[in-house]
Amino acid sequence: MDAGLEKVVAAETVLSDVQGAEGRLIIRGRDVETLALAFSFEQTAKHLWAGFFDDLPDIKAALGKARVAAFARLKPDFVRLAPLAEIEALRAALALAPDGHDAASAIDLVATMAVATGAIAQMKAGRAPVAPDAETGHGADLLQMIRGEAPSPEEARALEAYLVTVSDHGLNASTFVARCVASTRAGLGSAVIAALSGLKGPLHGGAPGPVLDMLDGIGAADRAEGWIRNALDRGERLMGFGHRVYRTRDPRADVLKRVVNTLPASSGRLALAQAIEGRILQKLAAEKPDRKLETNVEYYTAILLEALGIPRGLFTCLFGCGRVTGWIAHAREQLATGRLVRPASIYLGPAAAASAAA
Ligand code: ACO
Repeated sequence: MDAGLEKVVAAETVLSDVQGAEGRLIIRGRDVETLALAFSFEQTAKHLWAGFFDDLPDIKAALGKARVAAFARLKPDFVRLAPLAEIEALRAALALAPDGHDAASAIDLVATMAVATGAIAQMKAGRAPVAPDAETGHGADLLQMIRGEAPSPEEARALEAYLVTVSDHGLNASTFVARCVASTRAGLGSAVIAALSGLKGPLHGGAPGPVLDMLDGIGAADRAEGWIRNALDRGERLMGFGHRVYRTRDPRADVLKRVVNTLPASSGRLALAQAIEGRILQKLAAEKPDRKLETNVEYYTAILLEALGIPRGLFTCLFGCGRVTGWIAHAREQLATGRLVRPASIYLGPAAAASAAA
């Protein structure tokens, strides 16, 4: 068997199609590029959730109200979340949200993710959490809560494009976890907490912070060659490169690169990142000729979120704030099958002893 379940088909879905050979991602009938550049966060949630809930409200209004309610609910516990690592604080905050199955629970979870992420950012900077604004779009309000100041329209649009770009991506590890939990008929909150735990690891959603650490370590394009050689000699993986499904460029990397270009704060870092990316791709092609290793979504996620002034410790939380819409849709889709996920395993342990004394 393949321990990574690489060839195993474990779900039928109408949500997204990751075409690894072509480098194409289709999210419910739309190419990711189209969705990211044309859809708001709220429109994307509706796009993913349509047909999975009987009682889907006006998402923008409901999310605004839910962010205000989540802030009031979390307020007494902010002080206990403050010392935790960012992703762990977010997970703890989610544990205080309701664990229902309906659209209100889904909205509440999305709102809680944003409000907690904003509060964590403020507390890590030694400031008090900023209350949400129910009238603002979800992406703009999230950025405002994180930074404590209103973003420009370009910045708000850039964050929204990011959240939409990462909203769904086939049966990745965190989404698979969400589906497994949902299949037990536990609530959406349980599925989302489990999925967020899956996102935490550096092979999945934990890569963009280390991408910036890597760029800092390299420092300048002409130092890239030696730095990369040393890292590969130590058996390390270069963060932001390689993918289980894509055998060509991850289309989301190009969407995000395009979005970064709209932000003036990115220019120096973007030029360096592009120069280093070229050297890394050359080196990976030379060192791993049997495996096509290309840039993945996390590389330009790091550049984009940094250009938006978001601290790197928060990057995985941001990923969760985008992916939560997909997790919820997958959880509902899995629940609708009515089947508990329960794969088989091959026993490799010792044969049963002939007697109790043996
Ligand atoms: N840097 C260096 N070598 C790599 C990298 C990398 N980023 N990725 C894969 N390889 C090498 C492996 O060492 C292995 O080499 P070997 O055959 O000589 O031992 C070969 O390529 C195949 O690797 P696998 O482990 O089979 O690839 P897999 O499909 O399991 O890996 C993964 C996918 C986990 C994303 C991997 O490419 C990786 O670790 N990348 C770095 C972390 C990263 O960017 N994560 C974010 C992924 S995107 C997302 O989840 C949102």
